[in-house]
Amino acid sequence: MSDSTEADAKAPVSKNIVRADGRVSGEDRAANLGHDSMTVWFTGLSGSGKSTLAFAVEEALVKKGVAGYVLDGDNVRFGLNSDLGFSPEDRTENIRRIGEVCRLFQDSGMVVLTAFISPYLADRAQVRALHPDGKFIEVFVDTPIEICEARDVKGLYKKARAGEIPEFSGISAPYELPENPEIRVDTTKPLADCVAEIVTKLGL
Ligand code: ADX
Repeated sequence: MSDSTEADAKAPVSKNIVRADGRVSGEDRAANLGHDSMTVWFTGLSGSGKSTLAFAVEEALVKKGVAGYVLDGDNVRFGLNSDLGFSPEDRTENIRRIGEVCRLFQDSGMVVLTAFISPYLADRAQVRALHPDGKFIEVFVDTPIEICEARDVKGLYKKARAGEIPEFSGISAPYELPENPEIRVDTTKPLADCVAEIVTKLGL
């Protein structure tokens, strides 16, 4: 199977390139690992609990013998996406690149979990479209902004309210609510309950 699909977001700049097909499929690789492969895409505001949940679900999965791996928004911005900021265009490019990485992970047979605000519906839809049907699971971390702001774990809401951080999601930049997420998490419940519910719903 090729490492991407017809739904590629951008036409390549390169000319004279031809897709090369491997001799085994994503299903073959996943079968070797002994479980389904998928992308589990956590979306929600900053401070909603995406990273905490993604890392906790990863831990639960790895303990069960599942090949799981988290891609975290802040972490990826230190490396692969260190050239991107928070303008709408940069956020779209952030999600586009991570979507492609997820598709590669998923095709490798793994379970990749992501924690990106991913505020735009169209960007999330584009990542979904890169995946085979049923292999993209959107998890809406449905923590209201009042709670994220009250927690303010990183102190960013305070800075955003003071005008020190421009284009802050939920305050001075949009967050477009998921319309039909596969899973919605109520983070007023204990973390362990949320994790157990997600793992069950993933069927892993
Ligand atoms: S996304 O919008 O492009 O999906 P991403 O998840 O990569 O965002 O990064 C969000 C993280 O960057 C937040 O958790 C927060 O720590 C930090 N951050 C810094 N500036 C901003 C901003 N203007 N809006 C939102 N998050 C920001």
